[in-house]
Amino acid sequence: MILEAKELRKTYKSSKNVETIALDGITFDVKKGEMVAIMGSSGSGKTTLINSIAGLLKFDSGRVDIDGNNILEMSKDQFATFRRKNVGIVFQNYNLLDCLTVAENIKVPLILEKEAEDEMDMKVKNIAQIMGLESVMDKYPYEISGGQQQRVGICRAIINNAKLIFADEPTGNLDSKSTKNVMEYFSKVNNEFGTSLLMVTHDPVTASYCHRVIYLQDGKIVAEVKRDGDRTAFYESIIETQKEYIK
Ligand SMILES: Nc1ncnc2c1ncn2[C@@H]1O[C@H](COP(=O)(O)OP(=O)(O)O)[C@@H](O)[C@H]1O
Ligand SMILES: [Mg+2]
Repeated sequence: MILEAKELRKTYKSSKNVETIALDGITFDVKKGEMVAIMGSSGSGKTTLINSIAGLLKFDSGRVDIDGNNILEMSKDQFATFRRKNVGIVFQNYNLLDCLTVAENIKVPLILEKEAEDEMDMKVKNIAQIMGLESVMDKYPYEISGGQQQRVGICRAIINNAKLIFADEPTGNLDSKSTKNVMEYFSKVNNEFGTSLLMVTHDPVTASYCHRVIYLQDGKIVAEVKRDGDRTAFYESIIETQKEYIK
């Protein structure tokens, strides 16, 4: 397993001492090479779940293992290093640096690892080719489309050979054509490198590129759909399940 989450619980307390149970005992796994989508109504706990697992938010109790490593047993520094080497994060709004070119944006994580210059350039070129970005390498983020920007975001997330990518609504700002394009490129990366994905999405088309969808309701997993056959059939069963669990 690339990810094991056990009995995750998280309650938010507001200033008026109102408690909201955001995660109510969540247990699930992601297999190596698996792409999993989390769906659910607004407020069902999706962001809390993915942020807790990615180490961006402190949960109250439970356990998270990433590639067999219990993240709660690591010190802050150990976890930061571990995350840099093993995990990538893709943001809804891309989070690219506007003052850097596409090639430079992709290179940022390698610079942090202090790799040799020619090694870095080779890796950047290789990943850009896989993601279909060769023609825009010298452009700035504001000179390329949203879909291309998100593909740059994915390159940056996987350039350090991340085994697991976390993404909260990665196609949330994209039109349907760019959405399909981004997910097709991610599937290619998944095929080529076996990179796993845990992603929150509202969009059944985006989810249909995954191997499995889990549905959250009030901080609990209430349903799961597995892909078994072609993407169109999976899309149909996602829509069907959605009718019941997403109101
Ligand atoms: N910082 C916070 N303080 C208080 N309540 C919060 C906070 N963040 C989220 N919540 C509440 O926790 C629940 C789950 O939120 P969230 O994880 O953002 O859901 P989703 O991403 O599915 O929309 C909601 O009821 C939300 O209002
Ligand atoms: Mg959310």
